Amino acid sequence: MSKTFYEKPITSGHYIMKTPKINSGFLPPYALITGGSKGIGYGIAEALAKRRYNLILVARHLDKLLLAKNHLESTYNIHVEILVNDLSREESADEITQWCISRDIPLKLLCNNAGIGGADDYLSASIDRMRYMARLNVESGMALTYRLLPLLEKNTPSYILNVASIAGFAPIPIKNLYAATQSAVIFFSDSLRYQLKDKNISVSCLAPGPVYTTPEIIKETKKQLGWWADKIAISPERTGEIAVRKTLQKKMIIVPGTLAKLISMFLRIIPWRTITALYDGLKKN
Ligand SMILES: NC(=O)c1ccc[n+]([C@@H]2O[C@H](COP(=O)([O-])OP(=O)(O)OC[C@H]3O[C@@H](n4cnc5c(N)ncnc54)[C@H](OP(=O)(O)O)[C@@H]3O)[C@@H](O)[C@H]2O)c1
Repeated sequence: MSKTFYEKPITSGHYIMKTPKINSGFLPPYALITGGSKGIGYGIAEALAKRRYNLILVARHLDKLLLAKNHLESTYNIHVEILVNDLSREESADEITQWCISRDIPLKLLCNNAGIGGADDYLSASIDRMRYMARLNVESGMALTYRLLPLLEKNTPSYILNVASIAGFAPIPIKNLYAATQSAVIFFSDSLRYQLKDKNISVSCLAPGPVYTTPEIIKETKKQLGWWADKIAISPERTGEIAVRKTLQKKMIIVPGTLAKLISMFLRIIPWRTITALYDGLKKN
């Protein structure tokens, strides 16, 4: 299990702890992005950096976080904080919130992006892996949202961007729990949007189709969709740019890419039993 920054002495001058109290009156706003070191999270981080947001990136591996920090700071003249933290742990949200509050971070945007999926049949997966998925995909974003609400409320108008998936629009037999976690994120976001409207906090939910982030996803998408794969899938950079633009425009569901958007509309109109049977048929081909 990854160490957290709390396991390091606070006075050590470690790069994670070096930020002094921040005078929020003079600084551009901050955005906190979980899983911001690579993939879609990094795409979102870069799109925010272009808009002069300072960033807090959270992930487990220091090397990728440092690479992201160095590139973003040198390219966009912003300040990037990195937090090494395994978000699947129950204490994670409290630790991150404490870190933000103790520095009076002017938090304007929270992006709950870290999550896992996988292409194999989940019925043969271990229960530990399923628990990990449920904790990371659903619980971590819920807990961070609850904990960081007071900071977002202090910096309104503010934004929450939850990352789900097109897989959350209907049940997918082979990916049983993944689809369920993504639909939980969509439902959670939609309800929260109504609850936070009067507080001037806008909630959005990114629900992309395939995004070419890892070699496994590229391989699996091409295997499943053949010729269509390259037409439907988009890059993490483009996903991040669209996600941020629409979040700042206060859109609720964000599905980047024309074809993916069409498919998502179809998934939301057609009865679930038809979609689920279609997904099941795809698996047998
Ligand atoms: N790629 C797609 O096709 C696709 C489509 C729809 C939705 N999504 C969703 O988009 C999100 C990001 O996917 P991605 O493809 O961009 O993933 P990715 O390229 O694998 O990046 C995942 C990010 O999350 C971090 N992370 C993973 N586990 C973590 C943990 N336990 N604690 C803290 N950070 C953790 C990773 O850094 P470390 O490994 O260093 O922790 C990395 O920064 C996921 O929620 C996924 O479900 C992806």
